[in-house]
Amino acid sequence: MEKTIHKFWESVDSKSNAYRGNPSFESMEDQFIFNILKKIKKGNLLDVGCGKGDRTERFTKTIKGNATGIDYTDNMINQAKKRETRNLHFIKTDIFKYNPPEKYDIIASCRCIINTPTDKGQLKFVSRLHDLLKPYGHLILVERSKQGLERFNKLRKSFKLPKIKERYHNHYLNENVLMPYIRDNFDVLDIQRLGGFFFALRFLKPLFCGRVDGVESQEHSRLCEAVQNTLGNKLDEYGMQLLLHLRKKNT
Ligand SMILES: C[S@@+](CC[C@H](N)C(=O)[O-])C[C@H]1O[C@@H](n2cnc3c(N)ncnc32)[C@H](O)[C@@H]1O
Repeated sequence: MEKTIHKFWESVDSKSNAYRGNPSFESMEDQFIFNILKKIKKGNLLDVGCGKGDRTERFTKTIKGNATGIDYTDNMINQAKKRETRNLHFIKTDIFKYNPPEKYDIIASCRCIINTPTDKGQLKFVSRLHDLLKPYGHLILVERSKQGLERFNKLRKSFKLPKIKERYHNHYLNENVLMPYIRDNFDVLDIQRLGGFFFALRFLKPLFCGRVDGVESQEHSRLCEAVQNTLGNKLDEYGMQLLLHLRKKNT
C-alpha cells in the first residue's frame, strides 16, 4: 500500500482536488494554523509533506526564521524548489529517513500523516516528529479523524444521507491509538475538528438543498464558516478534521 500511495503523489496534478481538497476547508485550516504562528512569531520551522510548497512559503511570511519543506516525491519537490529563497528550502526525503543536523522549534504537517496506511505507522510518524522537535517545540497537525468520520456518518445515516468514505489513499487518524501517546509526550494546547463547518456543509446543506456533497458556492462556504465560528465548540464531535496544536514536553 505504501508504494501505491507514493505512486499516487508522484503522479497527481497539484491543481486537482485530490491534492488540495476542498478550498473552503483549506481556508478554515489556514485560520487555525496562522493564528498559532502569529502568536509564536519566530523560530525555525519544518513543514512535513509540504507538497508544492505554497503553504510553506506562506509560513515564512508569518514566522521569523528559516523554513524547510520536505516531501518524498520529485513531482512536488520540483515545483516547491521554484519558491526557494534565502530562508526557505526544500528537500526531497521521506519523513522516516530524514535526519537533519538540528532540531526544530516548530513543525507543521498538513494532511500528510493520513497517507501512512496503518495505525502503527502513524504512531511511528508522530514519534518521528517528536524526535525532530526541540523541548517545548510546537507541533501543528492538520489531519482527519477516523472517530470524527464515524460519528458524522452515524448522524448522516439517521437522516438517510449516504456514508462519506475515505479516499483509497487515506487512512484517517485513529484517535484511540494516537491520543494516549500524544498526551504522554505533548501538552495539548488546542484541538479542533471543525464540527460546525461539517455540520452545515455536509449535513444541513444536502438535507435542505437536496444536493449531496457537490462543490459549494462562496456564499455557502461563508455561511458554513459562520456556523463554525459561532457553534463550532458545541458541534465539535461532528467534525472529521483533526487540528492539533501541541507542545513537546521536556522529557
Ligand atoms: C495532501 S498533500 C498536502 C500538501 C501540503 N502539506 C498542503 O497542505 O498543501 C500530502 C503530501 O504529503 C507527501 N507525503 C506523504 N507521505 C510522506 C512521507 N512519508 N514523507 C514525506 N512526504 C510525504 C505527499 O507526497 C504529498 O505531497
